[in-house]
Amino acid sequence: MRDLRDDTRAGFLDTFGREPVGLWTAPGRVNLIGEHTDYNLGFVLPFAIGLRTAVALDPRDDRVVRVASALSEEVAEIHLDDLHPEMLSGWSAYVFGVVWALGEFGADLAAVPGFDAFIDSDVPIGAGLSSSAAIECAVAVALNDSWQLRLDRRTLAAVGQFAENHAVGAPTGVMDQTASLLGEHGAAVFLDCRSGTSEIVPMHLAEAGLEILVIDSGVSHEHATGGYADRRASCDLAAQTLGIASLRELTEADLPDAATRLDPVTLRRVRHVVTENQRVLDTVALLRQEGAAAIGDLLDASHRSMRFDFEISVPELDLAVETAQSNGAIGARMTGGGFGGAAIALVPDHAVSHLRAAIDGAFAEHGFGQPDMFLVHASHGAIREE
Ligand code: GLA
Repeated sequence: MRDLRDDTRAGFLDTFGREPVGLWTAPGRVNLIGEHTDYNLGFVLPFAIGLRTAVALDPRDDRVVRVASALSEEVAEIHLDDLHPEMLSGWSAYVFGVVWALGEFGADLAAVPGFDAFIDSDVPIGAGLSSSAAIECAVAVALNDSWQLRLDRRTLAAVGQFAENHAVGAPTGVMDQTASLLGEHGAAVFLDCRSGTSEIVPMHLAEAGLEILVIDSGVSHEHATGGYADRRASCDLAAQTLGIASLRELTEADLPDAATRLDPVTLRRVRHVVTENQRVLDTVALLRQEGAAAIGDLLDASHRSMRFDFEISVPELDLAVETAQSNGAIGARMTGGGFGGAAIALVPDHAVSHLRAAIDGAFAEHGFGQPDMFLVHASHGAIREE
């Protein structure tokens, strides 16, 4: 198996002809439950995974920033005086966007030196595991350290989200960056997106003999356009129609009244968000009181809600979830923004290989491409490695 840190350091040396001064990594994430609730100021429960993105960095004595990556031939370059979010594009927008966003959050970009950076990643792109947040958070912690900005991790998460929203142009919430920055070994991050407060919730999966299997459908998704933005717009419009600051204000008891004021499709969107918030709270309570073996029904209900009310699933994800449910999984759901990406199954460790075979078989039978499947374990958030 390759060593991400060695490869990133070597990539830096190859590209820039000197050693980097430091190396930072940030993880991708899996969302256990709480989908499309973050930008509605609700609850989410993601965890950071072992797959990480690394950035090796060395300052320059001019004010030029150059970034290269193992995933592209291009060495992108910009002068710190020329950072305008609307001019950024391609993969380097994730890096330059974070630099620009740090300025929006108080860093004095007129007073910092430039830098060279090399990026490499083990987080698969387009699988719904937040490869973009992993880049943003690795760069954010690297610059926070290098420039001695002393921004706390909640602020760095907001910086990453700001870059994603305004430089990359994807109207996403703050969940992914929060997981990537606050994640801890063996635990999920329970985040209240309205107050910004978070708690670490241990999952105790190994003790319970459970694994989380990711099933990457291979259907790729794009958040800057299309369905994600459309769902977000429906939620914003619903809140406006109901005269509330966000859908977080609603509980299930408010749904009958909402039904008299919203069209049927919008009502279904709202019902997903409201019931999903409750499922996150119930999952946290069950994890604490009974353990992970008790949360399967909530995962299943979350998937049904995304499939039928929020309508963000695709046939490949539905098949993965159904096959998991009927082949030993305790619960299963699609995870992430939807319209492709991955599903997760919570499964007893002794049933993992049977489940993998069943999913392979079901995909083949339906004429779908073979999904990529792997186990994930909750891991620590972004750190300086060396
Ligand atoms: C993507 C976004 C997140 C969140 C999820 C859906 O991962 O980046 O902010 O909205 O979709 O829960």
